[in-house]
Amino acid sequence: MNSPRGLIIAIDGVAGSGKSTTAKLVAKRLGYMHIDTGAMYRAVALKMLRCGVEVTDSDKIEDLLHNTLVSQKEVDGLPHVLLDGADVTDEIRTPEISLWVGPVSENPRVRKHLVRWQRDLGKNGAVVLEGRDIGTVVFPDADLKIYMVADLKARAKRRRKEMLTRGIDQSMTEVETALQARDERDSNREHSPLRKASDAIIVDTTDLTIGDQVDKVVELARKMTTGGARS
Ligand code: DC
Repeated sequence: MNSPRGLIIAIDGVAGSGKSTTAKLVAKRLGYMHIDTGAMYRAVALKMLRCGVEVTDSDKIEDLLHNTLVSQKEVDGLPHVLLDGADVTDEIRTPEISLWVGPVSENPRVRKHLVRWQRDLGKNGAVVLEGRDIGTVVFPDADLKIYMVADLKARAKRRRKEMLTRGIDQSMTEVETALQARDERDSNREHSPLRKASDAIIVDTTDLTIGDQVDKVVELARKMTTGGARS
């Protein structure tokens, strides 16, 4: 891939596999834009909750989506999520939203809108998108596709630590159960279930440090931009 526009890098995988941290740091190293598509689903879920819109009310959902703006900006080097201009970075990561976002992300109208936003954001390349369906649905022709996996225990440990930094204290069992339920839901839903794209490269992060994960993806990306596998 020698296009001057920069690569489209798709990072998909199970919850807690390290997608967000890896995507953010890979984007930084390559000077690319980072798009956290899970945060977009979470922001829409938060707005639906605030507005009292049920997942079954298709007309209201359509209306809400047409009047919603989700964007991202950097604050002190960290990615922040804005919903209609207001910073909702912390609100979208509560256990309540983590539960509610499941049914919201299964709604085909929500998916259709968000996929359109994501394609629009990524179409010019030089971008790292992370989610569940980036390599299969959003950008099936992405230049580099990564599928991240890790053992449940390792993922729960990381997720718990990350939640503690935000003042949320759940037991390991609670975190493991919630992750497992999310995996099931993401993998078995009707629309755009979590799947490894046939041409995605698996990165198992169970025993990798964040630095290792980032190096691995950056190395794969650099190989492609210097005349590697695809043209
Ligand atoms: O990555 P995350 O935990 O922030 O994702 C939140 C939810 O959104 C999760 O239940 C899966 C869903 N999601 C999705 O369906 N498609 C994406 N591209 C990204 C996330």
